[in-house]
Amino acid sequence: YVLGVDLGTSAVKVSAVDREGNIVAQQSFDYDLSHPKPGYSEQNPEDWVSATTVSIVRLILKDGLKPEEIEGISFSGQMHGLVLLDDKNQVLRPAILWNDTRTTPQTKEIAEKMGQEFINVTRNVALEGFTLPKILWVKENEPEIFSQAKTFVLPKDYVRYRMTGQLAMEYSDAAGTVALDVANKTWSKEVQEAFDLDASFFPELIESIDLAGNISDSYALFSGLTTATKVFGGAADNAAGAIGSGILQPNMVMSSIGTSGVVLKYEDNSNVDYNGRLHFFNHAIPNKFYSMGVTLAAGHSLNWYKHTFAANDDFTEMVSSAAESTVGANGLIFTPYIVGERTPYADGDIRGSFLGVDDTHKKSDFVRSILEGIIFSFKDIFDIYDEVGADFDTVVSIGGGAKSPLWLQIQADIFNKKVVSLKNEQGPGMGAAMIAAVGLGWFDTVQDAAASFISFGKEYLPDPARAAQYETVHNIYKKAYAATAEISH
Ligand code: XUL
Repeated sequence: YVLGVDLGTSAVKVSAVDREGNIVAQQSFDYDLSHPKPGYSEQNPEDWVSATTVSIVRLILKDGLKPEEIEGISFSGQMHGLVLLDDKNQVLRPAILWNDTRTTPQTKEIAEKMGQEFINVTRNVALEGFTLPKILWVKENEPEIFSQAKTFVLPKDYVRYRMTGQLAMEYSDAAGTVALDVANKTWSKEVQEAFDLDASFFPELIESIDLAGNISDSYALFSGLTTATKVFGGAADNAAGAIGSGILQPNMVMSSIGTSGVVLKYEDNSNVDYNGRLHFFNHAIPNKFYSMGVTLAAGHSLNWYKHTFAANDDFTEMVSSAAESTVGANGLIFTPYIVGERTPYADGDIRGSFLGVDDTHKKSDFVRSILEGIIFSFKDIFDIYDEVGADFDTVVSIGGGAKSPLWLQIQADIFNKKVVSLKNEQGPGMGAAMIAAVGLGWFDTVQDAAASFISFGKEYLPDPARAAQYETVHNIYKKAYAATAEISH
């Protein structure tokens, strides 16, 4: 078996996967998120280690997995979280997480100091969630802690360190620090100089499929694992999710609807230039990349509507009721900016709207407008791909959007592309397991692992008439941002 450790924001989920790609057992354990001040979001790195260990112990004791049959372990990790370590690799302060927004001043400082050079090197705009602004925040606000900081890692890198005793950071996650020269795969000298950060502060870099080490003697005693188990680099959750969804060719884009929404495209090389309008990160496959745009409130918009206006309705029936409405929801348009927006607007202050409310509108029209509005916001990301001439023909839908045939068809019609779901969607934990499987040599490449572990489900093709109608509605939707930004701000 291999273990795929999916280290999320609210819980860790550990999946044991066999050589055929079947999940034979799964255990998960929650941990707390603390918000000591508005906008702050922190976690104790030891909680990640304990929760992962409890899950592994349960796999052994409750599910009967034999430790000597666990050949390899790898990870999918929540991105960007800053774990500061002292010269003994002890944690210096709670980790500052991806969804912590205290760093607005530092993001401005980065933009002012480095301007276009920053985007050219790191291939991203420094957002509040990314790691470099968090490093600068600690440097400026907690100098006594920063003076003890010898190095830093990201969440899953810390758990891997505790398992193996070997400290390293893996590329797909390192890209999300925005201190990496993404195309050249080295820490950026430009960033280090601009912010007076010592080169020795930045940890050694490894590939996702690289062997980081074996289980250490002390972790073997702690967990019940044996020291024969090999531990591999792993990947950022979005990269691992892309692998677990088979996004491994340039003709493929992922459309993922969780609380937030992600549109992610596999990139064969680093030549394409989105100039910071999309995130551009290293993939979990050596020398490959992915670009990504984020809709902050995707599933969150639908959940908000349900608990506010339809608390007693059945969720699946509520979504299906959108079939009673029409293309364009009988003239009702929803912009899903209820907690601000990331792509394409990078505007935390914008708020959502229902436009064109009419006294004939029914609940089914509101639901339909939300399903459509979320996909229009994804289509805005597709438009960026169109502008740079990116060519792809298949959209893989995962998460909430893949659970409803109606929503899958709405995606095909709005994107005007073929949309497929996965037969047995397992998410980033499966991507992590595939990385371990390749690391162990079960497969030569991640693509080979995917061919064996992943299969696609039904295809949804766009209907030309509906696609044309949706194009008209999307053009109206696009005007809503500027028109409502004035009122929202
Ligand atoms: C990506 C991001 C999130 C976290 C969630 O930029 O901030 O997807 O990785 O875990």
